[in-house]
Amino acid sequence: MRIAVCPGSFDPITNGHVDIVRRALSMFDEVVVAVATNATKAPLLDAGQRVALARLAVAGLPGARAELVPGLLAGFVRQVGACAVVKGIRGASDVDAEVPMALMNRHLSGVETVFVAGDQSMAHIASSMVKDVARHGGDIDDLVPAGVAQVVREVLAAERRRTS
Ligand code: PNS
Repeated sequence: MRIAVCPGSFDPITNGHVDIVRRALSMFDEVVVAVATNATKAPLLDAGQRVALARLAVAGLPGARAELVPGLLAGFVRQVGACAVVKGIRGASDVDAEVPMALMNRHLSGVETVFVAGDQSMAHIASSMVKDVARHGGDIDDLVPAGVAQVVREVLAAERRRTS
């Protein structure tokens, strides 16, 4: 059984992420979407919401599941018995950001990271931009899996009520 971990902050999960999970499933028997904390980002969605939306997004993909990473990704990778980490790459800036993390994760766990090029038609989809579009009233329905856009809109509306 070859298990891969697809890590990210998934704030929120996008169609680009799901494309990478599908590609990982073509190479591994099981794929665990690992919802983790990125210390450099302040998330819009709390961890429970990010895991719930990731679970919804992969519900129709046999072999895929989503879990919360309580601490270090390296520990989680070992805990689930994964033989690889899979990360999607949209362009050179992703490589610059991802290689140091891949090196640290290999140092800590001995597990290799496999970089996968996502579908070109989704190269513009990033969680940060999805949130920015939604914040300004733009349509994000075709950028995220079914059910995700509504939750993002509700959380943004609650945020607006709190700050107004
Ligand atoms: O989607 P992101 O924000 O690029 O994902 C980054 C993430 C969450 C995978 C990374 O920050 C992470 O692995 N966080 C868990 C804590 C950890 O292991 N930190 C060391 C990373 S080398």
